[in-house]
Amino acid sequence: MEVIESRIDTSGDEYKANYAAMEEMVTTLKEELRKARDDRSEKARKRNRELGKLTVQERLDRLLDRNTPWLEIAPLAARGMYDGQVHGAGSRAGIGLIHGREVLVHANDPMIKGGTVYPLGVKKTLRTQTIAMENRLPSVILVDSGGAYLPLQSEIFPDADDGGRIFYNQAIMSKMNLPQICAVLGLCTAGGAYIPAMSDHVVHVKNTGAIFLGGPPLVKAATGEDVSAEDLGGALVHCRDSGVSDYFAEDDAHAMQICRDIVEFLPSQEKAKIPTRPPREPLYDPKEIWGIVPLSISTPYDIREIIARIVDGSEFHEFKALFGPTLVCGWGYVHGYLAGFLGNNGVLFSNSSLKATQFISLCDRQGIPLIFLQNISGYMVGREYERGGITKDGHKMVNAVATATVPKFTVIVGASFGAGNYGMCGRAYSPRFLWMWPNAQIGVMGGEQAADVLVTVKNDQLAREGKPPLSQEMVDSIRRPIIHSALREGDAFYSTSQLWDDGILDPAKTRDVLGLAISVSLNAPLEGRVQGHGTFRM
Ligand code: COA
Repeated sequence: MEVIESRIDTSGDEYKANYAAMEEMVTTLKEELRKARDDRSEKARKRNRELGKLTVQERLDRLLDRNTPWLEIAPLAARGMYDGQVHGAGSRAGIGLIHGREVLVHANDPMIKGGTVYPLGVKKTLRTQTIAMENRLPSVILVDSGGAYLPLQSEIFPDADDGGRIFYNQAIMSKMNLPQICAVLGLCTAGGAYIPAMSDHVVHVKNTGAIFLGGPPLVKAATGEDVSAEDLGGALVHCRDSGVSDYFAEDDAHAMQICRDIVEFLPSQEKAKIPTRPPREPLYDPKEIWGIVPLSISTPYDIREIIARIVDGSEFHEFKALFGPTLVCGWGYVHGYLAGFLGNNGVLFSNSSLKATQFISLCDRQGIPLIFLQNISGYMVGREYERGGITKDGHKMVNAVATATVPKFTVIVGASFGAGNYGMCGRAYSPRFLWMWPNAQIGVMGGEQAADVLVTVKNDQLAREGKPPLSQEMVDSIRRPIIHSALREGDAFYSTSQLWDDGILDPAKTRDVLGLAISVSLNAPLEGRVQGHGTFRM
């Protein structure tokens, strides 16, 4: 394979300015991640200690193999929402190794409002279940939760993608033969009781773990009976009398050990085979990406410079290099795994869309995972391009992306606007994982463009009515709020708080995260290599 020859001047002023700006964003990201992991009230910490419980981090440390990678999912979910303290939407989730096996782990944090489940907590749980199902992973669920966060119960309970879907998915996952191991480390009340009940293996901790459909206060109110939590749904009751739980644990650490033992004896699973070769570091330092990404999202740059800092040996076999040059397609290895890359180098035209369609179809048939590096303002607009059939060519690309069955991964490295988001495998196109870089922005269109559209619409309306156009003051009053909300809601930190992605990445870590994600994806068989796509509009 040819080595990409970088043209970046790492001593230039532009590089240095870009580097400094990205460094600041990455520092902010790291601080936000630290807060999400560690910031808990002293009151909650004290209560956790009094109860003899481990913290979530201590539980994870005992559950996972030491010094092995941990691919965290949505650590900044619900950032800035609710009272600003519901870090990670109230839980930690990720994929880690237990006895060398990739396992999805999801843990309620009892130090955040008693581990209660907020609306975005439901969304995060559903996302983790989707990841487990798509990648065929066993799950370990560490339950320690007061159940629904009652003040927001109407947003958690009734709809199709609300709380009930969690238990529905658990039944489907069990049927799919995806083992679910539940450790009861705190309360599992009401609906929450179904988390262990629907699991395949239940480990229950003495004194602190309890499972019941109605807790002691409800029992008292309903029947007048005085009963302690331990007596109503403790480990002894459920391991000895009811049979709801399978393993009696003395404490949290013992429970983590039992979970590890259960994973050790799960039947082994053959991973899907894709072309591999021994991994090698890129020729260029991935951290140089900091200096390559321009300060402004609208400044173009060559996506090959990014690919050169992601692929092994910076080697890249480019496909149709001279055709449709605004989309770079080609193959490279990431940590030893072969992948097909699609990276934007400008607006999508008909020829770049056709090239993408052909490339996706090739990779799909050859069983090669796809990596989308998204930096796209959309498909080309205008009379010439409409006549040239940009819509039907864009459709072919969107169709191919939607129907490709190989694992797909998306990193939004800059702009993600309009139908370009669809063609480049946005969230709705089911990439196995989707991440943002801290500089990324997402929306139907940029704020300026959206504001201009609305001003034009208004002026056209006034002209139809024979009235004069908007004054500058009125134009400003239309434009300002649109630009403001597009900036706020298009920001990577806003996106990640809403769970539109699986997390924000330090660009320098992109290669490592992609390597882990490809490895995880291979737990599921490669399907549909000869199934093709839908009907193409010619
Ligand atoms: N909805 C909203 N807030 C809740 C809650 C719920 N279901 N359960 C607990 N909280 C809040 C508490 O009000 C408290 O808030 P504060 O820190 O602002 O004072 C915080 O969570 C911690 O609760 P606390 O009782 O002080 O902590 P704990 O560790 O002693 O006990 C629970 C935690 C979850 C065991 C206990 O609060 C409890 O039993 N909650 C009710 C569970 C229930 O019946 N849920 C039914 C819903 S399906």
